[in-house]
Amino acid sequence: MARIALVTGGSRGIGEAISKALKADGYEVAATYAGNEEKAAAFTSETGIKTYKWNVADYEASAAGIASVEGDIGPIDTVVANAGITRDAPFHRMTPEQWNEVVATNLTGVFNTVHPVWPGMRERKFGRVIVISSVNGQKGQFGQVNYAATKAGDLGFVKSLAQEGARAGITANAICPGYIATEMVMAIDESIREKIIAGIPAGRLGEPDEIARCVAFLASEGAGFINGSTLSANGAQFFV
Ligand code: CAA
Repeated sequence: MARIALVTGGSRGIGEAISKALKADGYEVAATYAGNEEKAAAFTSETGIKTYKWNVADYEASAAGIASVEGDIGPIDTVVANAGITRDAPFHRMTPEQWNEVVATNLTGVFNTVHPVWPGMRERKFGRVIVISSVNGQKGQFGQVNYAATKAGDLGFVKSLAQEGARAGITANAICPGYIATEMVMAIDESIREKIIAGIPAGRLGEPDEIARCVAFLASEGAGFINGSTLSANGAQFFV
């Protein structure tokens, strides 16, 4: 029977590439989106992957959404917590709203996505939890105190969860993408983006599919002994 994967933020950007790669690898995939109906509809008609709308920052909505995915498709054994937002500003101008929105979506959203599927993974003695962190959670970034704090939080999250799930056949790992050619990165002011690219030894942005291949690997049966790890894919921009 096909494994069932849930990808949050799975209809756009890196998440879209992840959804497609898992489907190509034989998974039944459900993708969530937060608001872009038009893109979600286009994604479903292109890929045949069903989309579900909920706000990952809302625990009740996440739990209800996950119950409906499991009702439609079956028990989720692979969860990719990918949904994330930026609200960049230098710290002296960062508002509590910018802080709270990013923490609610990027960090609490990971808890809200993984917590409802965890009991089923423990019962079935198999699970793959993959959290999409960021190079900026490893190195920090001017203008991203909020975002970098959440992405560093992801690393502590998987290292702890890995220890709890290991004996139940569940792995929890993080991927730290560098700067990838998505709307999020293209939204950075062009002159700033050019300077960032100049600091990437590969001399280019990454492609969403280069992150999707990392997910497919960590999700595979053969990756069962990789647990609590951080996989960096950043064109040699930063080494831990
Ligand atoms: N280091 C040191 N100083 C810096 C700096 C840096 N990296 N970046 C900017 N500064 C300085 C500027 O030179 C400027 O100094 P002066 O006032 O003396 O000229 C001052 O800080 C203000 O900078 P800006 O003019 O850029 O300020 P702003 O308010 O217009 O913009 C910002 C602030 C929105 C944070 C902007 O700097 C920015 O977009 N930076 C890039 C942030 C970034 O990399 N975001 C990643 C988004 S993609 C993502 O997050 C995906 C992922 O995981 C990688």
